[in-house]
Amino acid sequence: MLSARTIYGEIFDNDEAFGLFCSIAASGEAQGGWENGKIAALVPGSQAGLAAKIARHGADEDKHGRIFAALLRKRGLEPVAVPPDADYTMRLEAAGIGLAHTRLPREEQLTEADIVAYLAHSRVTEQRASEQMRALGRHAGDRPDIARAIGVISHDEDNHLAYCHEELLRLAAAGHAQVIRATLRATALAEIAIYRDVSLAVMAHLGRILGWPRPKSAVLAGGIRAVYACERLGGWRRMVSLRMPARRDALGGLVPAQSSHA
Ligand SMILES: [Fe+2]
Ligand SMILES: [Fe+2]
Repeated sequence: MLSARTIYGEIFDNDEAFGLFCSIAASGEAQGGWENGKIAALVPGSQAGLAAKIARHGADEDKHGRIFAALLRKRGLEPVAVPPDADYTMRLEAAGIGLAHTRLPREEQLTEADIVAYLAHSRVTEQRASEQMRALGRHAGDRPDIARAIGVISHDEDNHLAYCHEELLRLAAAGHAQVIRATLRATALAEIAIYRDVSLAVMAHLGRILGWPRPKSAVLAGGIRAVYACERLGGWRRMVSLRMPARRDALGGLVPAQSSHA
C-alpha cells in the first residue's frame, strides 16, 4: 500500500536512501544555523533585544544539523553531497527570499527592513519545518532513535515558529504592518513553489535509489503537485497569519550548551 508511513519506512530501512535523506536534512539545518549566527552579529541597535534570540535560533539549527549527522554516524554512514535541485535553503536564497547570503559575511549592520525580511522568511520556513517534523515524528513511531531525535527537533521548530509570530507582531505594532503583510505573502507564494520543486527532486533521487517503478513515482509526484495546488488555492494563508503564541519569549534565556541529544 502506498501510504506516507510505508514510504518513510522504505527510506529509513535503506542505507543509501537514509543517508541521502539525513544528509539533505543536516545540510539544511547547518545552513540555517550559519545564517542565523551571521544575522545575530549584524542586528541594528534599534533591535538589539533580538540578537540573543537570533543567536539562540542559530544554535538550535546547528544542533539539529548535529542530530541528523549523529543519526548517520549511528548507522555507520558518511554524509553525501546534497544534489543542488534538492537544496531547499539555497533555492530560496536564489529566488531572492530572505536576506542574500552575500551580505552576511560582511561587517555592515542590517537595517530594520532587513530584520523584517529575515523574520518574514523565518515565519514561513519555520512553519514548514514545524509541520514537516510533526509528520516525520508521526511516521517514525516504531523507530525509537529516529523518533527521539525528531521529537527534540520538532519541539525546537515549534518554539522558532512561536518566536517569529511574536516578533513580527511586535514589529507590526511598531509601524511595519504593511511591509510585513506584503513580505509574508510574497515569501509564502515563492516558498510553496520551491517546496514543491524540492519535494519532486528529493522524491526522484530517492525513487532511483529505491528502484521505484514508474507508476509509483508518478503517483507520488501527483501527490506532491496536489499538495501544491491546495496550498496555492488558499493553504498558503496559514503561513502568513500572525497570532500571539501561547508560549511567549520561546527563545529567551541562554544559548544551550553544544550537545547533540541524539
Ligand atoms: Fe531546524
Ligand atoms: Fe527552525
